[in-house]
Amino acid sequence: MTNMARNKRIGILTAGGDSPGLNAAIRSVGKAALGCGMEVIGFRDGFRGLAENLRDPLDKAILAGILTVGGTILGTGRDKPHRMEIDGQIRDMTDVMADNYKLNKLDALVCLGGGGTHKNALRLVEKGLNIITLPKTIDNDLYLTDAAIGFDTALGIVTEVVDRLHSTAHSHHRIIVAEIMGNRAGWLALGAGIAGGADVILIPEIPYDVETVAAAICRRRDHGTNFSIVAVAEGAMSVTDAAIYAAARQAKKDTKGAKGSPERDEAKQALAAFNAHHSGNTLRLSKQLEELTKLEARVTILGYLQRGGTPSANDRLLATRLGTRCVELIENDCFGVMVADHGGVVVPVPIQDVAGNLKLIPPDHAWVQSARRVGTCMGD
Ligand code: F6P
Repeated sequence: MTNMARNKRIGILTAGGDSPGLNAAIRSVGKAALGCGMEVIGFRDGFRGLAENLRDPLDKAILAGILTVGGTILGTGRDKPHRMEIDGQIRDMTDVMADNYKLNKLDALVCLGGGGTHKNALRLVEKGLNIITLPKTIDNDLYLTDAAIGFDTALGIVTEVVDRLHSTAHSHHRIIVAEIMGNRAGWLALGAGIAGGADVILIPEIPYDVETVAAAICRRRDHGTNFSIVAVAEGAMSVTDAAIYAAARQAKKDTKGAKGSPERDEAKQALAAFNAHHSGNTLRLSKQLEELTKLEARVTILGYLQRGGTPSANDRLLATRLGTRCVELIENDCFGVMVADHGGVVVPVPIQDVAGNLKLIPPDHAWVQSARRVGTCMGD
C-alpha cells in the first residue's frame, strides 16, 4: 500500500434500474477503501447526485448492516449526463459533473450500473475523470463480463415464480404466460425457464412463430397434459414484429446524422409506434394462444418483484469480489475500466469496449441447446 493510496478520496454512485446486491457492492468498495485509508463519499440518485453535488460521506457506521438489504442506500436514477432535465430544461451536465468531481477533490469515481451507465461513464472518462465501474443488471446483458450483480438473485426469484405457476396452471388446465424482464436479452427468461421447467421459452434473440408455439402446446394436450407454462421475455417478438423492429431501428440509425430532418422525425415516430404496439405483446400472445389451442390462457407479469429484496449468496459474493478488486485497481491507478468476472477471475476491461455493446444469447448457446434437448419449445 502506498502513501498516495492512503490519501485518496473516492466517490460512489449507483445508476440505472436497481438490482439486489448493490448495497453489498457499496459496502465492499467502501469498507475496502476505508480499510486502506481512503475517504469515501456517496452521490445520491445516480448521475444526478454528481450533477447537483448531492453527496454524503460514507463511513463505517453507514456501511454497516447493508450487506443483505435490497435496493441501493444511495438511490438511483436513469438520468443521462449529456441530456439531463434541470428546472424543466434539458441540459448537457457533463462539464458540471467534471467540476463537481474536482470540487470534491476526487481521485476516482466508482459507478455501479448496467448498459446505460457504461455509456454515461464513458462520457465522463472522455472528460478526463478517473472512472471505474462495476457491472450490475438483472438482465445479465453487459458485454465483456460473465456475471453481473443482481442476475443470480433475479434468477432465483423468477424460478420460484415459474415453479409456483405450475400447480395453478395444472389445476385449472390453463396456459399461463409469464412475462419476465429482459428487453434486449433473454438470459433471465431462458435461465429461469429452464430451471423452472417452462414448456415454452421465448426470448428476443429467437423470434417466434405463434403457430409453432400453439402446436407445441396442442401436442402436450394431445398427450394428456392440458396445461402449459410459457416464459416470455419482455423483448421477445414474433418473426413479423422482429422484421418491423429491425427496419425501424435501422432507419433511426441511418438518419442519426440528420437531426431535425423529416426523415429523422419519421424514423423516430416509426420506432415509437412500434414500441407502443409491442408493449401489449404478452397479452396479445396469450389471446392468440387461447384462440389457436382452445385452452384458457392467463398472463402473469412479474414486474418489479424480480428486482426487489435480499440478494442471493452468489450476488453478495460477486459484489464483494468485484468491489474489493475495484479498490485494488484504484490503489494502482488503473482507471477507465469495468471490473469484470471472467470465469471466476476478476479482471479489468476497458469501459469503451463495454459501452454500446450487448451480451446477447447466441442462438446456439449451450443453455438453448439444453432447453431444446429436454423438449422445450423455443418458438422457432
Ligand atoms: O435493465 C433492467 C430492467 O429491469 C429491464 O429488464 C427492464 O426492462 C427495465 O429495467 C425496467 O426499467 P424501469 O425500472 O426504468 O421501468
